Amino acid sequence: MPVLNPSARPVPLSPTLAINEAIARKRREGTPVLALGFGEAGIPIHPSLTRALADAAGRGAYGPVAGSAAVRAAAAGYWDRRGLPTDPDLVVCGPGSKSLLYGLMMAIGGRIAIPSPSWVSYAAQASLTGAGAVLVPTPPGEGGVPDPARLADAVVRARTAGHPIRAVVVTLPDNPTGTLASEDGVRRLCAVAREHDLVIVSDEIYRDLVHDPARTVTSPALHAPERTVVTTALSKSLAAGGWRLGVARLPDGPFGHDLRARLLGIASELWSSAPAPMQHAAALAFTEPAELVEHVDRSRRLHAAVTRAVAGRFAAAGADVPRPEAAFYLYPDFGPLRDLLREEHGVRTGADLTALFLERYGVGVLPAGAFGEPADALRMRVATSLLYGATDEQRLAALAAPDPASLPWIAAGLDRLTEVLADLQAASGHVLSPAVA
Ligand SMILES: Cc1ncc(COP(=O)(O)O)c(C=O)c1O
Repeated sequence: MPVLNPSARPVPLSPTLAINEAIARKRREGTPVLALGFGEAGIPIHPSLTRALADAAGRGAYGPVAGSAAVRAAAAGYWDRRGLPTDPDLVVCGPGSKSLLYGLMMAIGGRIAIPSPSWVSYAAQASLTGAGAVLVPTPPGEGGVPDPARLADAVVRARTAGHPIRAVVVTLPDNPTGTLASEDGVRRLCAVAREHDLVIVSDEIYRDLVHDPARTVTSPALHAPERTVVTTALSKSLAAGGWRLGVARLPDGPFGHDLRARLLGIASELWSSAPAPMQHAAALAFTEPAELVEHVDRSRRLHAAVTRAVAGRFAAAGADVPRPEAAFYLYPDFGPLRDLLREEHGVRTGADLTALFLERYGVGVLPAGAFGEPADALRMRVATSLLYGATDEQRLAALAAPDPASLPWIAAGLDRLTEVLADLQAASGHVLSPAVA
C-alpha cells in the first residue's frame, strides 16, 4: 500500500497564529484572556477603503502577475514621497508581503542572514526554501538590523563551509522589539552587504508607525540602492492584514530586472496574481488621500500611548524594557527576575514563562525563542493592539481619545496586567482569578 509522505521539511504553525488559536480556545472554554500575542493592528478599516473594495468586488479576473498598473503606479508614488524614486515596472504586488518575502527568498537562493531576534516567519520561510537562515544578533537599541561586524563574520564562515549567504533581511522599524535602528547601523550594514555582495531585503511594513513623526526611517535602499529590495503592505498601518495585499520594490538596474523575472516566475506558480478587488483598494491606499493619512496618524498616536503605558507596567514589575519606538510591540526582558521566577514558579526558559502567563493568568504573549533567541532568554514579545477594544465602536473611541489608556476597557486591561505582574513577583502560591475578558 502506498504510504503518504507528508512534508519532508515540516514547519509548525507560525507561533503568532498559534498563540491566536490558543487564546481563541481558552475563550471558547470560558476563560477570560488578555490577548497580547498576535501582531494585528487592532484598529478598524477606514470606510474609504471598504468602499473601494466594495466597488471592485465584481472583479473576478486574475489580472497581471505583477499586479495592476494602477496599484504599481500608486505604490511607486508612495515610495517616491519617502525619498525612494521608484519605477512602477519594478513593483511587484502579492497576497501579503509574507508571500512576497518567501518568493524573494526563493528567487535569490542560498542562505539568508536574519536578525536575532526577528519576525517569526523569516527563519521558517528560509527553512522552507531548503537553504535555511543564519541568525545574526542585533546590537542593543538596533532592533531589526544585524550587527554589521558579526554579519561579515557569518558570511565568511558560511562561505568557507560551502553554504554561502546571499541575502540579509532587515526590519525597519522592527518586530518584535518595537524599536528603530539608527542611520549609522543601516549605513554600516549596507557597507558589509556591498563588500560581500549580499542582497538586502528591507521589510518596511511598520515604516509609517514610528511613534515620533519627526524621526525618519533610513531605508538601505538609500545607501545601497543597487541591491536593496523593499517590502511593505496594507496590514499594519491600515489594519488590513486579512486583505492579504503587499508590494515589493525591486532595485533598478540589471540585477533588479533579473530578480523581477525570477520573482514573477515564482509568483505565477504560487499565487497567479494578488486578489483584484484588494489591488483596487490598495491603489487608493498607496495614493495616501488625506483621510487615510489622518487615520494612520491617529493609529500611530494610539500605538505610542498604549505601548508606553504597557511598558511602564512591565518596568514597574522589574523587567528591563527597551523604550518602544514604533508599531504596537514591546520586548520586555525578565532576566532581572530570573531567580525569583525559577524559585517561585519553576520557570527556566522563555517558553516556561509565556506558558505561565497563558495557563495561570490567561495572558497570551510570545517567547523570545519564537523570534530566534536562545531558549533560556526570558524576553517576550507583547503586542498591545488587541487592548484597543473588542468592537469597532471601542476601537474608534480609542483612536479618537486624547488619553486612550484612560478609556475604561483599556484601563481594565492595564489593571489586569498590573495585577498579574504583581502576583508574579509576590513569590506566593496564590492564584489570581483572571478578570479581563
Ligand atoms: C515584520 C513583518 N513583516 C511582514 C509581515 C507580513 O505581513 P503581511 O503578509 O500581512 O503583509 C508581518 C506580519 O506580522 C511582520 O510583522
